[in-house]
Amino acid sequence: MAQSNCGKLSLVTGASTGIGLELAKCCARDRMDLVIVADEPQIQDIAAELRALGAAKVEAIEADLSNERGVDKLIAVVGNRPVEHLIANAGRSLGDAFLDQYWQAARHVADTNVIGTIYLIHALGRRMRDAGHGRILITGSSAGFMPGRRQAVYNGTKAFLDSFACALREELKDTGVTVTCLMPGATETEFFNRADMMDTEVGAEEKMDPADVARQGYDAMMAGKGQLITGWKNKMQATMSHMIPAGQLARRQARQTVPGMLKH
Ligand SMILES: NC(=O)c1ccc[n+]([C@@H]2O[C@H](COP(=O)([O-])OP(=O)(O)OC[C@H]3O[C@@H](n4cnc5c(N)ncnc54)[C@H](OP(=O)(O)O)[C@@H]3O)[C@@H](O)[C@H]2O)c1
Repeated sequence: MAQSNCGKLSLVTGASTGIGLELAKCCARDRMDLVIVADEPQIQDIAAELRALGAAKVEAIEADLSNERGVDKLIAVVGNRPVEHLIANAGRSLGDAFLDQYWQAARHVADTNVIGTIYLIHALGRRMRDAGHGRILITGSSAGFMPGRRQAVYNGTKAFLDSFACALREELKDTGVTVTCLMPGATETEFFNRADMMDTEVGAEEKMDPADVARQGYDAMMAGKGQLITGWKNKMQATMSHMIPAGQLARRQARQTVPGMLKH
């Protein structure tokens, strides 16, 4: 018989919108207790929605996960409770060419996607390993397979996470803790708007439904799978990326992220 997840603690970062919100809904429907986190006050409104779906307890935290102070705030809220599901999903991007970006904005992308994410996993992952069970889900991206013009920092951070997740999974393989990397392709969320990319081909094209993406990632995490690339197009791209030189991949991807290149 499948083990009940009722009352187990799940932590979801970036749960206010998009894929993270949908991942939190999957947890709520399975009646888990939830700690949800995002940077803006909107996260407070999400708690009631998740309770209505079945979560017994939901704590909503506002914290900037790009720095250790924000992550420490989150860890303090968790306290000594064992975390069963750690869903490290918060992330952001930024359009524009690297040298035309403000340094602080570019750094915020790298700090959120990489430093904040691995700092959180370092702190809570140790506890999960000591407890001898738990599931970690990291939202990487199929963008991690290719260098991205006007997405140089973002794609680099996702290449890091895709690789990191795989390595951590191997390190934890005999501990009872599994690591799953969710690698979505373009998904219909606030992501492109926030990155100021709505006038690019990838910003404007039809994208995957975040609820479908999250469900696939959630199921993969619960099954203890290593990685999940969403959508057949993205799976094909991932396969091709192992055969095509990086320079060619960057050129192919470039037209998707250049403003004013919308398909008519
Ligand atoms: N959408 C796509 O096409 C796509 C494709 C592949 C991978 N992904 C990845 O999927 C994940 C979720 O993105 P999404 O598409 O769902 O975008 P989204 O709707 O913009 O959601 C991003 C979430 O992350 C939170 N967040 C961002 N920076 C944060 C920070 N410094 N501290 C705390 N929370 C922060 C946001 O909260 P606030 O608004 O409060 O900051 C929001 O809850 C990201 O890691 C993204 O890289 C997205």
